[in-house]
Amino acid sequence: MELITHPRSVGLRDKWRMCRRVGLIFLLAAVALTIFQRSRSNTYFHKSQQTQQQFGLHGSSQRRSLRFVPELLWNWGRVNSVAATEESSVSGRDVRRTWDITINNCSANYNLSKFQWFMELENNFKQFLLYRHCRHFPMIINQPEKCKGEIYLLIVVKSIITQHDRREVIRKTWGREQEIDGKKIKTVFLLGTSSNEAEKANHQKLLEYENYIYGDILQWDFMDSFFNLTLKEIHFLKWFSMYCTKVHYIFKGDDDVFVGVRNVLEFLGSMNIKNLFAGDVILKAKPIRKKENKYYIPVALYDKTLYPAYAGGGGFLMDGPLARKLYGACETLDLFPIDDVFLGMCLQVLQVAPIKHNAFKTFGLVHDKKSKLNREPCFFKDMMVVHKLLPQDLLQMWEMVNSHRICSQNCIHLDLH
Ligand SMILES: *[C@@H]1O[C@H](CO)[C@@H](O)[C@H](O)[C@H]1NC(C)=O
Ligand SMILES: *[C@@H]1O[C@H](CO)[C@@H](O)[C@H](O)[C@H]1NC(C)=O
Ligand SMILES: *[C@@H]1O[C@H](CO)[C@@H](O)[C@H](O)[C@H]1NC(C)=O
Repeated sequence: MELITHPRSVGLRDKWRMCRRVGLIFLLAAVALTIFQRSRSNTYFHKSQQTQQQFGLHGSSQRRSLRFVPELLWNWGRVNSVAATEESSVSGRDVRRTWDITINNCSANYNLSKFQWFMELENNFKQFLLYRHCRHFPMIINQPEKCKGEIYLLIVVKSIITQHDRREVIRKTWGREQEIDGKKIKTVFLLGTSSNEAEKANHQKLLEYENYIYGDILQWDFMDSFFNLTLKEIHFLKWFSMYCTKVHYIFKGDDDVFVGVRNVLEFLGSMNIKNLFAGDVILKAKPIRKKENKYYIPVALYDKTLYPAYAGGGGFLMDGPLARKLYGACETLDLFPIDDVFLGMCLQVLQVAPIKHNAFKTFGLVHDKKSKLNREPCFFKDMMVVHKLLPQDLLQMWEMVNSHRICSQNCIHLDLH
């Protein structure tokens, strides 16, 4: 009766009690959560300290390495899993081959200085020719386990030691290791060493730390320079032939491109041919003889009037068996300073014609760099590879292209083909 006659006063008292109770529960929950998080972040901190000690990260590089710590939080599970696979590979029965070159004892061929034509060359070509016969370098960082199991697509990115931010964005966007419709995708970055001693000292440890976290760095002991990209090409092909027997396809490209991974998978699914090599194929290109040009090639180095068909190095696709054959074919040729042309020469040895596809835009969508079209997500949506984007633009474009809001019926599809 009372309850019914004085509903207000009783209700108020009960509500107050209830509020207190709920408040207390919240407070307890908050305290518990804080303690839990503290203990977790302590583990992280401990872990990152350990790794820093392990890699001798101290002094000036310690400050920089702080940038990694938030990453480490995200990747804590992965760090553990990397450590676990390392252990299992040690104890596993699966004995992997090791890279056969352990020392670099190749010296310059000064015999060339006897020749007048050599002495007349620009310095960078002299440098290239002096070391042209040096084709076998040791590995500094290897991933012998990368191709374990069956892999549909191996993404291979040419990178240099200082471009950490580009690698980071690629890992978050098109280079993400994942499985799409049952097709496994793995990623590696190809690096040489820095030519600059200070850079070498500061960045090498960081690179090793980065590799400890992600396990996706391949590094060889040759200087990363424009003319040494060909060395990178042949070392990758050799590495692939040694370690990756069950990879169906390879995407190989630069670290400043946009890649539409789903379009790539769709394209590969539709191709049922042997010796697939597809990209932004350039036919009948003439060697550039203007000295100011980045791609200048003196007649002394290449005297033919045309290059063989080749795909722009910004991004192309090939199948795994072809990559192994290419390794053999490239071994029969002298090194050529432009890596994508060199690969065209190797293809010519095999008499394989590269396929041109319009979804590879290794020179940008439209040649006019200022054009708004180069910033238009609707275009990117249909593309496999587009050159050339800064890390921030890449991330932004990736998010726009992958959001479902854009490119509905209202969106104008301009036909670039
Ligand atoms: C370089 O080392 C290899 C062994 O790794 C050896 O066979 C070769 O003779 C050496 N070359 C020179 C020039 O010392
Ligand atoms: C340089 O010339 C000497 C003698 O002619 C020869 O033995 C040597 O192999 C040459 N070096 C290279 C790297 O070709
Ligand atoms: C390529 O790398 C080797 C080994 O580091 C170096 O000796 C050579 O000078 C480099 N070549 C060019 C053209 O940069």
